Amino acid sequence: MRRSKRAEKTQTALVAGGAGFLGSHLCEALLHDGYRVICVDNFLTGRMENIGSLVGLARFRLIEQDVCTPLELGEPVDRVFNLACAASPPRYQADPIHTTRTCVIGTLNLLELAASNGARFLQASTSEVYGDPEQHPQREDYVGHVNCTGPRACYDEGKRAAETLCFDYLRAAMADIRVARIFNTYGPRMDPADGRIVSNLVMQAIEKRPLTIFGDGRQTRSFCYVTDLVEGLRRLMDVDPNPREPVNLGNPGEFSILELARLVRELTGTRSPVKYLPLPQDDPRRRRPDISRAKALLGWSPQVPLRQGLLQTIVYFSNMDDLATEPVVAIDRAGGGKLQDLQL
Ligand SMILES: NC(=O)c1ccc[n+]([C@@H]2O[C@H](COP(=O)([O-])OP(=O)(O)OC[C@H]3O[C@@H](n4cnc5c(N)ncnc54)[C@H](O)[C@@H]3O)[C@@H](O)[C@H]2O)c1
Repeated sequence: MRRSKRAEKTQTALVAGGAGFLGSHLCEALLHDGYRVICVDNFLTGRMENIGSLVGLARFRLIEQDVCTPLELGEPVDRVFNLACAASPPRYQADPIHTTRTCVIGTLNLLELAASNGARFLQASTSEVYGDPEQHPQREDYVGHVNCTGPRACYDEGKRAAETLCFDYLRAAMADIRVARIFNTYGPRMDPADGRIVSNLVMQAIEKRPLTIFGDGRQTRSFCYVTDLVEGLRRLMDVDPNPREPVNLGNPGEFSILELARLVRELTGTRSPVKYLPLPQDDPRRRRPDISRAKALLGWSPQVPLRQGLLQTIVYFSNMDDLATEPVVAIDRAGGGKLQDLQL
């Protein structure tokens, strides 16, 4: 095991949302670094199988709890990573009031925990704080273009309020906080049925079903592979001095959804047609991080190209047992959708 300098004496890291897609990879990486890890999760979107290989390890503790309830650990912690929040639109819109509570009350509870322990705190924020951006690519000093009354607001505004709390704790010298603005991240352990674009397309291709594309597919996203993202989170938590500013973490490669669909078809060898569906309300048209700050402060930039990361993801989904899961496409309220061949 590579014991890094990050954890010379055994330190304890709490990962809220540790049974989720990103959280489970982070728990693994922290254990690998020598941390004792406490995973707190209510299993809203997290899955026991994500942490199945960790449960039972001496340095791993699982607490099944909603972060909206204050935590009483009975032991000190040195690091608090707050990843607790459903991340896919169908999931966070299913109970929007709980999503806002998780972002605001949950973050407040975890900040209090960090403050009372003198622990460092890292908030998993999101590119959604930029809303449907008018600035491209998005830099951290862009204040965003968010609709505070739309169906995505529970998440977008919830995460913005969480950032506000973090920076108020920092200004008041109550906690050493760091804020990562995460852009679309993908990889093994994504929930195949939670309606995110990469998992949707890969699952549909593997099962030879039509690939659903919202709008005309020309909207763009940037896709970061999970191992790159987790490395960025660890570096941001460890860096000294405190950057005292949010840091974008994402892959600056920009792809249209049609380009992504073409790549998925090529890598899976499927000839599935495309089904076009109406664009959901407030769907961002363009997304690409400016990662100059992460490069300068953390010496970080993504290493895994989309083709390579997608292949790993396809292998993971292909080996899953419960492949017959229909992805959640909760926004497909109009039904129907025209089947067309995808022009290669
Ligand atoms: N994956 C991405 O592309 C992405 C992009 C931007 C931001 N993020 C942020 O990163 C974090 C992790 O995202 P993910 O992709 O792993 O999503 P995920 O849904 O797989 O993981 C979220 C985890 O939080 C848990 N959770 C949700 N509400 C909770 C609550 N109230 N109390 C306790 N646990 C709760 C879930 O059960 C799940 O295990 C989220 O905060 C998300 O907003 C992710």
